[in-house]
Amino acid sequence: MKTPRRLIGALFAGALAALLPDAARAQGNLTVYCSVQEEWCRPMMAAFERATGIRVAMTRRSSGETMTQIRAEAQNPRGDVWWGGTGDPHMQAAQENLTVEYRSPMLDQLHDWAVSQARQTGFRTVGIYAGALGFSFNATELQRRRIAAPRCWADIAQPAFRGEVQVADPNTSGTAYTMLATLVQLMGEEPAFTYLRALHRNVNQYTRSGAAPARAVATGETLVGITFLHDAVTQKVNGAPVEIVGPCEGTGYEIGSMSIIRGARNMEQARRFYDWALSAEAQAIAVQAQAYQLPSNRNAPIPPQAPRFENIRMIDYDFARWGSAEERTRLITRWEREVRAGSR
Ligand code: G6P
Repeated sequence: MKTPRRLIGALFAGALAALLPDAARAQGNLTVYCSVQEEWCRPMMAAFERATGIRVAMTRRSSGETMTQIRAEAQNPRGDVWWGGTGDPHMQAAQENLTVEYRSPMLDQLHDWAVSQARQTGFRTVGIYAGALGFSFNATELQRRRIAAPRCWADIAQPAFRGEVQVADPNTSGTAYTMLATLVQLMGEEPAFTYLRALHRNVNQYTRSGAAPARAVATGETLVGITFLHDAVTQKVNGAPVEIVGPCEGTGYEIGSMSIIRGARNMEQARRFYDWALSAEAQAIAVQAQAYQLPSNRNAPIPPQAPRFENIRMIDYDFARWGSAEERTRLITRWEREVRAGSR
């Protein structure tokens, strides 16, 4: 009695499996640490699950926070891939041996800046997007208070903006670290710290995540927010009265990156994600999620709303130096001591 029933059961299961597309069959699991906006993390993971059948567990945290977490878990790694977030902490993680080398067959489809990020770290990280730093302001509020529109880094450190500037904390946020390293490269270290102390008097809040100040500008909660310009574009596209500024003195940029974590439990799935995330098709998901960075795959469409580097005064950001563990740790410690700890 039992055997035919089991047989029927097995046949039924077999028939069902044959009916399902490949992608829907269990292909294993993957844990991704995501450091872009949650609104982009989610559709990205869902699309990868659809394309491969691999089940993804995703956690979203800021770039500096993720690096700290990966370091804390080094003896017992829980994550497989770290996708997104500014390049500097990815480079520091590479240097600290927290991530592993992988030469994706997709590398030849990428822009030079993305491959150079990989080369500089012995292929322990790779560029997935780029974006320029700057600030945005709430035009309605500015007009109401009859304050002249700021155009330069120098403007937003003026007393007119006392308590009206928001930026993230470089301990947690890669955006804020990019600002720190940008100002040091732009002005020289001593003048940059003098500037940061003046700016500190104007800062109403150091947020955990880099893009939060752009949302606060949109609602009028703060007049000025220092973020990547594409984060302010997202607010503008959604109808907020936001003006976006590439500072007159010049500015830096990020190469958003991706790395495979040393000791990843799902190495095969991690590599599949890595290759897929470098494809033009996967990178095109950004714009649907209102993320307006410049994609690293040469064939991925550039969103028309993306701030273009040609229109902004850019510095030649030295990623090898400012992404190094020594410099990154040193600058953040100095900022803590000389800026954050100061009175306003
Ligand atoms: C936002 C930006 C990304 C950037 C990330 C860094 O999501 O859109 O381009 O890489 O912030 O986040 P963090 O919170 O570390 O500054």
